Amino acid sequence: MPSLGVNIDHVATIRQARYREDFENHNAEPDPVVAALMAEKAGARGITAHLREDRRHIQDRDILRLRERIATKLNLEMGVTEEIVQIALEILPDDVCLVPENRREVTTEGGLDCVGNQTILRPVIARLRGRGIRVSLFIDPDEDQIESAAKLDAEFVELHTGTYANALGENVERELARLKGAARLAGERGLRVNAGHGLNYRNTTPILQLPGLEELNIGHAIVSRAVVVGLEQAVREMCALIAKG
Ligand code: PXP
Repeated sequence: MPSLGVNIDHVATIRQARYREDFENHNAEPDPVVAALMAEKAGARGITAHLREDRRHIQDRDILRLRERIATKLNLEMGVTEEIVQIALEILPDDVCLVPENRREVTTEGGLDCVGNQTILRPVIARLRGRGIRVSLFIDPDEDQIESAAKLDAEFVELHTGTYANALGENVERELARLKGAARLAGERGLRVNAGHGLNYRNTTPILQLPGLEELNIGHAIVSRAVVVGLEQAVREMCALIAKG
């Protein structure tokens, strides 16, 4: 059965919406580390966080604290920049997932271009693996990308499920078939297979059919659901506090 890695970036997004300039304030909440521990308690087998160049959600200190506190495994999502590579080499997450990063994007938009970036990716992968970090490449489910990823000596690919998640009508089956073909080819080339992006409570079940799938990384849908299912209790608790006087 594939395992779940919970991406806690958007817990930090909520905190940063209020405490961007003062995220160490004693009132700064919600704490992504608390969220990570709760996710582990509920069955997550890993915690994923993306330390973006612009630090729009997760901060360096969050990564340090996650490294110290979580009991499962830390998957650091990161762009291929020297600053972030250095941080990874110091903090030593269990896994790194290399993603393309564009400052203006709302979220990671496309997969990494392994075809055109072999010379940039190869030494970074070697440095990370040299410190015992498992490396995954976040790629679109394209044959060329799989073939190029296989030449790069990474252990995993994470197949980008965003196009599938956004597809409608007959395109859903077409995108699912593309993902299945990509997962199969990756396995044949000796790559281990994860998947993620845009997965939610409606579209995840068919993805479980991907051959050899080991892990799903899901963030936005889980944090969104937590807000909805938790709101009633949160309001109830504040009403009770007020009623108590
Ligand atoms: N996997 C990767 C590589 C990502 O970049 C993201 C988004 O940060 C996710 C998984 C999780 O995507 P979502 O928040 O849409 O579940």
